[in-house]
Amino acid sequence: MARYIAFEGGEGSGKTTQARLLSERLGALLTREPGGTALGGRLRELLLNTDDVALGSRAEALMMAADRAQHLEEVVLPTLAAGRHVVSDRSLYSSMAYQGAGRQLGIEAIATLNDWAIDGRRPDVVVLLTVPGTVSAQRLDRSLDRIESAGEAFHTRVADAFVEMAEGEPDRWMVVDGTGTVDEVETRLWSALKPRL
Ligand code: TMP
Repeated sequence: MARYIAFEGGEGSGKTTQARLLSERLGALLTREPGGTALGGRLRELLLNTDDVALGSRAEALMMAADRAQHLEEVVLPTLAAGRHVVSDRSLYSSMAYQGAGRQLGIEAIATLNDWAIDGRRPDVVVLLTVPGTVSAQRLDRSLDRIESAGEAFHTRVADAFVEMAEGEPDRWMVVDGTGTVDEVETRLWSALKPRL
């Protein structure tokens, strides 16, 4: 059966690289949020790289949810229906962590908003890649976007929310240590994921 697999984690956790490697291994469609559709590409620009437009936390949450609604309808659901796995770099759980906990809009409120946007179709498997803050800072050697530059307390709330969600739903979530080389992480991830597929 085609599975919907999402990668979650902070910036610099290596999830984008690992999502690509897993999609190659599985022959899955690789996609991402925000930005997995034409609409999403425009929204991603506004959400992350535009600094001359005011954008409040609620508008940010709604735009993330709008990106996701279009992404599920246009990309994720048709691909699964055609029998192909989907590997997505981020999912609604990023909104629960970043907008719910990071922006302090409430994890439950953001879950409700997003479940409406995606009609309750959450990922089957969520891979949380964890790395210490010092490792992610080293890996992020470019200039920071609007959300990346939200500050240390914000990112601590985000990281804590991911761990809490993973602990609360161990059947859906897999926590994978993201330290080490790309190959080491891939091997670790695949041996944990394989029995679940
Ligand atoms: P990325 O850099 O991993 O592609 O993610 C883009 C940024 O958007 C990252 O800082 C996390 C943030 N984000 C949210 O705040 N809420 C969301 O729902 C998603 C999908 C991403």
